[in-house]
Amino acid sequence: MDTRNSVLRTKFFDRMCHWTMVACFFLVAMSGLSWFFPSLNWLGNVLGTPQTARILHPFLGTVVFLLLVVMFFRFVHHNLLVKTDMIWFRHVLDVLMNKHGEKLRIGKYNAGQKLLFWGIMSLISVLFFTGIVIWRAYFAALFPIPVIRLALLAHATAGLGLILLVVGHIYMGLWVRGSITGMLTGYVSRAWARQHHDRWYDEEVKPAPDAPVKHHS
Ligand code: HEM
Repeated sequence: MDTRNSVLRTKFFDRMCHWTMVACFFLVAMSGLSWFFPSLNWLGNVLGTPQTARILHPFLGTVVFLLLVVMFFRFVHHNLLVKTDMIWFRHVLDVLMNKHGEKLRIGKYNAGQKLLFWGIMSLISVLFFTGIVIWRAYFAALFPIPVIRLALLAHATAGLGLILLVVGHIYMGLWVRGSITGMLTGYVSRAWARQHHDRWYDEEVKPAPDAPVKHHS
């Protein structure tokens, strides 16, 4: 690895949290979707038989929630909205068209990523707390039936919302070349950092004094 030209963006612990959570998320999301329509039942095969899927879904969902709670505390300070995020919002069309003419003063995460962060964290909380209410084996008997019905509706709605957000998140990750490698290896190039997160680069990434700054393609 070209260490002079790379900067550490995501630490090992955070990457492990993210990817373990992703693996569990896919199992939970697929088994959850399998219960929406009979034609989707086959998706539940990721967790074995219908019975094992029914048992494992809430446990794995709890793992996703707990890992996202850890991620919340590790990432929240980078995701608080600040004044300069308004510049990103004003130039959102340029960002989407991949025009990088102007300095957008973007911190470690851009304003869109921050909204996504809060969306993910809110929806996973709704999913967890409504999931407890509808968890037949342990908790559902503690709640009146109308509450269980409302919780079921909220759980299904939040689940679909979170899956849609995650599809958007994956799409953006694929679209911004270098960001998935960053989440896999931890490292991004200096040029990537300057181009996509200029304020983060200026304020937190110290330029290597002896390194000629290369522009990546
Ligand atoms: C194949 C699936 C996924 C891919 C390829 C992916 C990719 C990424 C990448 C590249 C980053 C770092 C972005 C950057 O450095 O600017 C990231 C961060 C993050 N991802 Fe994912 N991700 C996936 C699934 C998920 C899922 C399922 C969730 C949650 C339900 C999630 C939640 C997060 C969060 C909370 C962050 C931190 C962003 C922030 O603090 O604003 N990811 N992901």
